[in-house]
Amino acid sequence: MLDRHDILEKRGLLLTVAILVVVSIGGIIEIAPLFYLESTIERVQGVRPYSPLELAGRNVYVREGCYTCHSQMIRPLRDEVERYGHYSLAAESMYDHPFQWGSKRTGPDLARVGGKYSDAWHVEHMIDPRALVPESVMPPYKFLASSIIDPDDAPEWLKANRAVGVPYTDEMIENAAADLKTQHDPFAADFDNFVARYPKAHVRDFDGNPGAITEMDALISYLQVLGTMVDFSVYEPEENYR
Ligand code: HEC
Repeated sequence: MLDRHDILEKRGLLLTVAILVVVSIGGIIEIAPLFYLESTIERVQGVRPYSPLELAGRNVYVREGCYTCHSQMIRPLRDEVERYGHYSLAAESMYDHPFQWGSKRTGPDLARVGGKYSDAWHVEHMIDPRALVPESVMPPYKFLASSIIDPDDAPEWLKANRAVGVPYTDEMIENAAADLKTQHDPFAADFDNFVARYPKAHVRDFDGNPGAITEMDALISYLQVLGTMVDFSVYEPEENYR
């Protein structure tokens, strides 16, 4: 039986062809089903596109390279789930372009940091991480508190995301600048329409400075929504994924 290996091993070209055949079997098994699936992402109740202010915060997060130290991807392993909560679902990052899963954890995973701390904690932590966590190696981001956001830029962020597949409606784009201001002001006239467009969005002044909409407001609104869109007390995987 083993002698017959000679047939392959002594003929380089034949061996190459045989390897290609064997490897392509694995490839076909992985790739072929993708042509028959409508979507590889299971839709999950509660996941919605980011509001304009959250999107502005996400832009700051990407610009500042927070992903170089923080992942946003809780793996389905016991130590991760016990520390961070329910493992990340594909749907939870379906509107992230580019996704922020990350591959490096100098700091903790942030996929479910929403609601873990108060806004005031985040403000102080961003201004001076070592004031709260003496051994922290996170850099300070004090300048975000004085960096003012221009609401008129908001429609462009939504349009850019729509171009890559995020289902922002015309109505959302038209109201983007107003929605950005509304999320910062709980007494705004358009509050009801805003919450209808972005269910469960937190509406308040995030950085303790109600006079201005800053990048600090945006970043904290984003951090506070991370991992909170899906209600895991009622979440059940779809039938065909069990
Ligand atoms: C050089 C690496 C580094 C960078 C860059 C960095 N962080 Fe951190 N971060 C850390 C470390 C380390 C900790 C844990 C100690 C602490 O809480 O300060 C941390 C903690 C945090 C926490 C608290 C998490 C928790 O569950 O306790 C938040 C929120 C956070 N970072 C947000 C950010 C944001 C937003 C940015 C980008 C603007 C950022 N970090 C950039 C290293 C980093």
